[in-house]
Amino acid sequence: MSHTPLRVASIVGARPQFIKLGAISKSLASLAETDSELAVEHIIIHTGQHYDERMSGSFFHELALPSPDINLGIGSGSHGAQTGAMLKGLEDVLCHLCIDLVLLYGDTNSTLAGALAASKLNISVAHIESGLRSFRKSMPEEINRITTDHVSTLLFCPTRHAAENLIREGISGVICDGELVNERPRIGRAPATVDSPWIVNVGDVMYDSVLFHAAFAPNYIPELSATAPHLLEYAVLTVHRAENTDSASRLREIFIGANRLAEDIPVICPLHPRTVSSLEQHELRPLANRLILVEAVPYHRMLSLIKHSQLVLTDSGGIQREAFMLGKPCVILRSETEWVELLETGTNRLAGANSECILHEARELLSLDLGDAFASRLYGDGRAAERILRICWQWWSQD
Ligand code: UD1
Repeated sequence: MSHTPLRVASIVGARPQFIKLGAISKSLASLAETDSELAVEHIIIHTGQHYDERMSGSFFHELALPSPDINLGIGSGSHGAQTGAMLKGLEDVLCHLCIDLVLLYGDTNSTLAGALAASKLNISVAHIESGLRSFRKSMPEEINRITTDHVSTLLFCPTRHAAENLIREGISGVICDGELVNERPRIGRAPATVDSPWIVNVGDVMYDSVLFHAAFAPNYIPELSATAPHLLEYAVLTVHRAENTDSASRLREIFIGANRLAEDIPVICPLHPRTVSSLEQHELRPLANRLILVEAVPYHRMLSLIKHSQLVLTDSGGIQREAFMLGKPCVILRSETEWVELLETGTNRLAGANSECILHEARELLSLDLGDAFASRLYGDGRAAERILRICWQWWSQD
């Protein structure tokens, strides 16, 4: 039996969401060529949360993403003002687009606004990167994740841990592992609804993306060549979480740790605009000349910086996983992580924002041979986006 096409709207707004959307968009294009049954019309709505060339435009270009069909141009603001403006803008456009399913990505304010706008219009929601928890509700992303998961009909978890978190929170629904059987996902027969969703461990779309895009990561590291051309080894550091950038003492500790580490190994630090302003505001300056601060870099350059490094230090969830996927040890600049399986491998360690801990963990990780620890398949098989699309179609065509 043939069905009318499924009209899906992807709502994105921030840097990591463009990467996840890239995996979905690429998989959609290849399924359109290979599976004549699967008919999906895809509309991209950009909230405008990130708007710079560095934070947005370069990602659309490198990931070969179609330009957004709609850009709300909301921009920066306090959480309430930003989320409220997105909510109103999204409601206005969703009312007119005849959308069957809204696809949401990760845990940003754009995700939250999309979840509220769609669910209040009774449009079904699918959440990619569902079930992640820091168990710390003072983190804005935790509120965004919990709210989005609890109004979603299709809960696409990147790991088994994430699926277990949802079950622990009392979300009852059909749970399965997203295994593809003859190219079809094995889902239970019960139809998914917002009150009885499907929880599926599909794998991580970021892994799909790394597998494809790592080949485009340039070998040349201009940051290093300009400053220290004779050095081949370096560490890469990123800091952007509000908990670190908005606290002068935490940011100072992180940069004290980085300055000291730079005495052992050069540290390249691409800076998120939020971090640039915080460093200026708190009058923090790098002391060591081997701590190399550069502007935020595009996706391929970031993969390249990770791929050729000896060590990664970060508070980003995406970069923690990218480090693992590219076989690099990682010091996590937080006191917890949503990606707990990384800690189990021993390749990633928590150091919070304590300069002594950062230095200690960095030196230890640099001294270890972790070869086999990167062999575990934590994030699926690189077909998470395909699973997601096939499951969306199965949900749509269920009788
Ligand atoms: C957001 C997400 C965070 C995600 C991160 C990825 C929320 C609550 N947080 O944080 O989960 O990890 O994106 O980067 O949604 N700015 C620019 N240019 C831009 C966008 C922002 O200069 O294109 C500056 C502005 O000064 C702005 C600040 O960065 O005030 C923060 O941007 P915002 O979108 O509020 O949150 P992020 O910190 O990027």
